[in-house]
Amino acid sequence: MAEKTTQRTLWGSKIGFLLAAVGSAIGLGNIWRFSYMSYQYGGGAFLVPYFVALVLAGIPLMILEYALGHREQAAAPLAFARIRPGAEWLGWWLPTMALFGIMLYYAVIIAWCVNYLFYSINLSWGNDPGGFFFKHFLQVSDSPFHLGGIRIPIASATFFVWFLCWIICYREVNHGIERACTIFMPLLFVLTLVLVGWTLTLNGAMDAVRNVYLKPDWSKINFITHPEARQVWIAAFGQIFFTLSLGFGIMITYASYLPRRTDIVGNALWTAIINCVYSFIAGFAVFGIVGFMAHARGVPLGEVIKSGPGLAFVVYPAAIRELPFGQSLFGFMFFLVLIMAGLSSGISLVEAFTCAVTDKFNWSRKKVVTAICMLGFLGSLVFTTRAGILILDIVDHYLTNYGLVLGGILECILVGWVLKAREVRRHVNSSGGMRLNFLWDVCVRYLTPAVLIAVWGNAFIRELRQAYGGYSTDQLVLFGVDWILLSLAIGVAFTFYPWDPRKLRRTHVPAEDALLT
Ligand code: PHE
Repeated sequence: MAEKTTQRTLWGSKIGFLLAAVGSAIGLGNIWRFSYMSYQYGGGAFLVPYFVALVLAGIPLMILEYALGHREQAAAPLAFARIRPGAEWLGWWLPTMALFGIMLYYAVIIAWCVNYLFYSINLSWGNDPGGFFFKHFLQVSDSPFHLGGIRIPIASATFFVWFLCWIICYREVNHGIERACTIFMPLLFVLTLVLVGWTLTLNGAMDAVRNVYLKPDWSKINFITHPEARQVWIAAFGQIFFTLSLGFGIMITYASYLPRRTDIVGNALWTAIINCVYSFIAGFAVFGIVGFMAHARGVPLGEVIKSGPGLAFVVYPAAIRELPFGQSLFGFMFFLVLIMAGLSSGISLVEAFTCAVTDKFNWSRKKVVTAICMLGFLGSLVFTTRAGILILDIVDHYLTNYGLVLGGILECILVGWVLKAREVRRHVNSSGGMRLNFLWDVCVRYLTPAVLIAVWGNAFIRELRQAYGGYSTDQLVLFGVDWILLSLAIGVAFTFYPWDPRKLRRTHVPAEDALLT
């Protein structure tokens, strides 16, 4: 057999792909992370940098990742290696960092939700949800270095989460992931709407929505007069990468299963819009519940809430207890929403890495998925220890704000300059659907990388001046910087294995010039 034609699985339907992509984008990031970010950074004020980041970086990069995956019909490493063999490491680094960094703690947060799903049946958190979460449930230690043993309820739920990921990813994408998302996503939308509607009927809910969420405090985002506002901008860009699953290698992989003729731009816009609208709507539930609590307790808004990663597990349970009726049902629905949203994102990352590995080494998909889920579970155990939430906070801060954003900058350079944005645009425009014009080239080559470099540089300078979250430098270096470097080393190690030269040849027909704008 002279030429090997690899039969690539395709998505079963257009909507199946969109649901899977939206499933990846909508996750804990939209509810758990978005809510504490927007609360911490001034409510509605956060929406402005968030929107700017969406337009300047989110949408252009989403198109870039879809276009690249579709053009090369490959996951990130092979796609990058085809652009230039020396760039393959980047294709490995991104999914490695995401899977063995972000996903390890992400699975544990889903596991917290699984525990809380059961706790909501009899409202186990009692009248001190904060104490329950930190002291009883997590039993948080005093420093990230004091691991203090694994928490068995969390570890067993984490095992369950990885097991679910394994079951879903074990089968080909069109049977496993697509089917799971076709069930999860509509259910998720309905449950979210019910929760938001229910929340807004509560006393005091609309006040908080109107006075905090929808009323931006401009001083919080004006970085010219208030230098500390830079942090808000940095966080907003990090959040956009996180929430749109950009810089993970996921969207490249998902687009690689699209048929030849497809609407790349339309799909990218829909994914980004549905995701951000979902976050915006979920914000009503979060701020609404805060308003309700403040009203029920007769205290100012700022007093009912502690920001940080514990927000969803402290404020929500507290509010649920105060509900006039249906407490358990409300709690159950809330944590079910989180679990479904989290799982549909988790599986996309397992897929991105699996596809990267099977592209290169002809191993069976089933074996690769099994190995990844087992290793993933073992890695997650670090976050099930008593120091878990502290380590999670550090890893999340570094990987999102530095790792993903740096990944985005390098993608822009590689695709915009080495491959040439025009070449990619030509591919997009020849695939059918909405057309791209030269503005996209300008974004990918100049605007997006320039903005991202500015954000990254500012974050870095800030970091040097003031250690993140009051942790010591040793802790930040070990859990933040070293984590990034370790994933880089693993990524580079994968590149040493030589490719079958046939794989480096592209399979797609080059775009017809006639279709060029
Ligand atoms: N987009 C996801 C979210 O918002 C981020 C994510 C994707 C995290 C895949 C882990 C795995 O939650």
